[in-house]
Amino acid sequence: MDNPAPIRLADYQPPAFLVDKVSLTFRLAPNTTRVLSRIAFRRNPDGPGGPLKLDGDKLTLISAQIDGTPITPTLTGTGLEIDAPDAFTWEAEVEIDPEANTTLNGLYMSNGMYCTQCEAEGFRRITYYPDRPDVMAPFEVRIESDLPVLLSNGEEIERGDGFALWHDPWPKPAYLFALVAGELVARSDRFRTMEGRDVALNIWVRPGDEDRCDYAMDALKRSMLWDEEVYGRAYDLDVFNIVAVDDFNMGAMENKGLNIFNSRLVLASPETATDADYQRIESVIAHEYFHNWTGNRITCRDWFQLCLKEGLTVYRDQQFSGDARSHAVQRIEDVQMLRARQFPEDAGPLAHPVRPESYVEINNFYTATVYEKGAELIGMLRVLIGDAAWQQGCKLYFERHDGQACTIEDWLKVFEDASGRALSHFARWYHQAGTPRLSVSSRHEAGELILTLAQETRPTPGQPEKSPLHMPIRIGAIAPDGQEVVADTVLELTEAKQEFRLPCQTPEAVPSVLRGFSAPVILDQPLSTADKALLLAHDTDPLSRWDAGRSLGKEALMAMILDDAAPDPTYLDALGKVLSDMDLDPAFQALVLALPSDEDMAQTLAEGGATPDPLRIEAARVALSTAVAGQHRDTLANIHDSLAPTGPFSPDAGDAAKRSLRNAALALLTRIDNGDRARAQFDTASNMTDSLAALTCLLRIGDGVTEAETFRKRWQSDRLVMDKWFALKVGTAPGETGVGIARELADDPDFTWKTPNRFRAVVHALGANHSGFHAGDGSGYAFVAEWILRMDPVVPQVAARTMTVFQTFRRYDADRKALAEAALRRISEAATLSRDTGEMVRRILE
Ligand code: ARG
Ligand code: ZN
Repeated sequence: MDNPAPIRLADYQPPAFLVDKVSLTFRLAPNTTRVLSRIAFRRNPDGPGGPLKLDGDKLTLISAQIDGTPITPTLTGTGLEIDAPDAFTWEAEVEIDPEANTTLNGLYMSNGMYCTQCEAEGFRRITYYPDRPDVMAPFEVRIESDLPVLLSNGEEIERGDGFALWHDPWPKPAYLFALVAGELVARSDRFRTMEGRDVALNIWVRPGDEDRCDYAMDALKRSMLWDEEVYGRAYDLDVFNIVAVDDFNMGAMENKGLNIFNSRLVLASPETATDADYQRIESVIAHEYFHNWTGNRITCRDWFQLCLKEGLTVYRDQQFSGDARSHAVQRIEDVQMLRARQFPEDAGPLAHPVRPESYVEINNFYTATVYEKGAELIGMLRVLIGDAAWQQGCKLYFERHDGQACTIEDWLKVFEDASGRALSHFARWYHQAGTPRLSVSSRHEAGELILTLAQETRPTPGQPEKSPLHMPIRIGAIAPDGQEVVADTVLELTEAKQEFRLPCQTPEAVPSVLRGFSAPVILDQPLSTADKALLLAHDTDPLSRWDAGRSLGKEALMAMILDDAAPDPTYLDALGKVLSDMDLDPAFQALVLALPSDEDMAQTLAEGGATPDPLRIEAARVALSTAVAGQHRDTLANIHDSLAPTGPFSPDAGDAAKRSLRNAALALLTRIDNGDRARAQFDTASNMTDSLAALTCLLRIGDGVTEAETFRKRWQSDRLVMDKWFALKVGTAPGETGVGIARELADDPDFTWKTPNRFRAVVHALGANHSGFHAGDGSGYAFVAEWILRMDPVVPQVAARTMTVFQTFRRYDADRKALAEAALRRISEAATLSRDTGEMVRRILE
C-alpha cells in the first residue's frame, strides 16, 4: 500500500482561473455517456498565475478545444494542464461509464435511474473542471435521454422530445451540481415565499413510493417557513426538487435546487416508519434545505472549512427540530449523540480539529467532529456574545458574504464586528482537537458559593500540547428543599483554572454545573448520590436534570461492573420519582428511564483508567434493568396499559413522546415477564414504532424467533423495512451469538451488500453491538474486517466509514487489542486499498 501525500490547509492557493459560465450537454447511455462541456475561463487577478489545471478522474477524453481550436492537453494522472490565454472558451467531450460506477460518487446508476453525488470531489468524474469550492459559476445543463424525467439544478427552461434544458442562475461550486434521469413519479405541492415567489415543490420517487412522501413534504414546507421567520432567508428559485434514491453513500445532499436523498430519509408511512425515522426525516429535510443559504449561497473556500457550512447547518437543524418538537428533549438527544459518536472520535486515533489542517481523502472528514462538535461551537459562540449580537452577526454574515466562498475567519469576524468582542481565544476551539475535561469543586463561605473550575485537554495525534479554551459554563444551585437558590448564570472560563464567587445564603446548596451542556466537555464534578438525586428531582434545567440521572445510572452500573455491587437503591428510588411525576413530558421520562448504553459505559470506564469488559458491562446493564423493572413493576405496567394507542397514528411529537415512554416501559417489563407483554404488543401493533419496539424487546431476551420470522414474511418486499430487520437481528444478540447471526445473514440471499443501506444494516449493526463486535474470540473484528475488504473496491467511501468502528480498540484488554490489531493489519496489508480506507487504517494503527 502506498501513502498518498496529504493536502494541507497551509498550502492553500487561490485558483489561477475563474469560471464565468458553464454549459454542459449529457448524452445519457448506461456504459457510454458523453459529456460535452463549454466553459468560459478568465485568469484570476488574485491568483498565483501559471497554467490552467483541470481535475479529471476516470474520464476518457474524446476531444478538446480552446476558442474553437483543437488541442491535445497534457494529462497529469489527476487531470490535465494547459498553457492558456487570459480569457478563453474551453470545450471538451468526454466519455464516462455510469453503469460501471459502483462508487456512488460522480454519475452513477441506481435501479435504472441516473443519479449524481459530487460532494466533495465527484464532479471530476463527470468532466474536466477546476473541482474546488472556491470556483463558482452559473450552470446550463442539457440532458439528452428518452427517460421521462430529466432533472438538473435550477429551473427548466426548455423541454422537448428526448431532452431537457436546465439553467441555474446562482453561481455555485461544482460539488453542488446534480443530474437525475429516470422513471420517477412526483408528489407535488407549492410554497409561497415571504418575498412573494410561488415555488413548485416536488419529491421524486420510484413508482409505488408516492404515498410515502407526505411527511417529507410537510417537513419541507415547515423548514422553508422557519428559515424565513428565524433567519430572514427565503428560497430563491421557482422550483425545489427532492429525489429519493436507494443507493446512496450518506444521508442526503444539498445540490442547488435538486436535493438528493437516501430514500430512507424521505419515505415514511405509519406502517413502515418508526417515530425515530419520522424525526430523522424531518431534521434531514430541514438540514439540506437550510444549506441553500448556509452552504450554497455562502459556500466554503476549501474543504478545510467544511464546518463553516456543516456545523452551522447542523446547529440550524437542531434549532428547527427543537422549535418543532421540544427543546429539552432535542438538547438531550443532541448531547447523547455527541457523547456517543464525537467523544470517542476525539479521544482516539482519529481525533482531529473541527477545522482539520490536513487530509489525504476529504470524504474521511465528514465526521461527528466537523458536524456535531462544529454545531456545539456555534451554540457556545451564541451564549458568549448573547442573542442580540448573534442575530446581528448572522445578518451581517448573509449580507457581507452572499455569493462568496468563505473561511472560519470570515465567520468569526462578523461576530467580532457585531459584538465588539475579540474572538481570537474562542477560535482555538476550531484548531484544537480533543474533549476538554472540566473539573469542578465547590465550597461555601460567608454567604458565597465558591466554584473552582479547571480545564485540561489530553494530547491528540499531532497535538501533544494543549492550551486552555474559552468556554461558557452555565450554572445554578439547588437547595435541599428543591428551591433554586442560585439562578441561571454563565461563567466564562478562559484559563486552566479559575475561581468564581456567587452570592448564596444556603450552605447546603448543590451546584448544577454545565446546564444545557453549555460546552462540549467531560464534566468531572464529585457529587454524592444524594446530591445527584436532588438534581434529578429538582434541577430547573432539563439537560442537567437528565444528566444527573444519567450520572447516577452510570455510577450504579460502575459499582456493579467493578465491585459486583447490588443495584443502587438511590438510583432505583430516584427513577420512581421521575416515573410518577405526571407533570413531566413523557419523552423526557423515557430518556431518563433508558440506561446508559454499553458504549457509554466503556467510554466512562476507559476515561477513568479502567479496562472495559464488554460482557460484564452487558451483564450489569441487564441486571440493573431487571432491578428497575422489579422495583417499579406496577408503575411500569400502568404506564404501558394507560398509554396504549387509541386514535389513528400521528407522527407528531406529542404522540411520539407517549409511544417512547410506553416502549421504554415495555423494554423493562420484558426483563421480568418472559416477554408476555411484548408478544401481545407485537401481535396487535398497527404501526412500525410499536411493532419494532416489541420485536426488539423479545430479541433482547433471546426470544422472538417466531415473531422475527412473521415480521420478515410480512415485509419481505419492502427494502427499508428489511434493512431494519437485518439491523435488529444483528444488533440485539450479545457476544459471539451476535457475530454468528451476522455471519448467517451475510449469506442470506437478501443480503444485497452492494447497496450501502443493506451493508450497514449488517456490518455497521455489528459494529454498534458492543459485546458482539468485541466478542472475546475476535470473531467480530474478523467479520467486520472481511467485509471492509470486500466493500472497499466497490464503494470505498462506505468501506472507509466502516473503519470507524475500530477507533476505540485500544481501550480493551491485551487479548482483544491483539485480535483487533490483527484484523486491522489484514486490512492494511491488502494488495490494493482505496485512498479512503488506506488513510483510515493508517490513522487507526498509528
Ligand atoms: N453535504 C452533505 C450533508 O451534510 C453531505 C455530503 C457528504 N458526502 C460525501 N461524499 N462526503 O448534508
Ligand atoms: Zn450538511
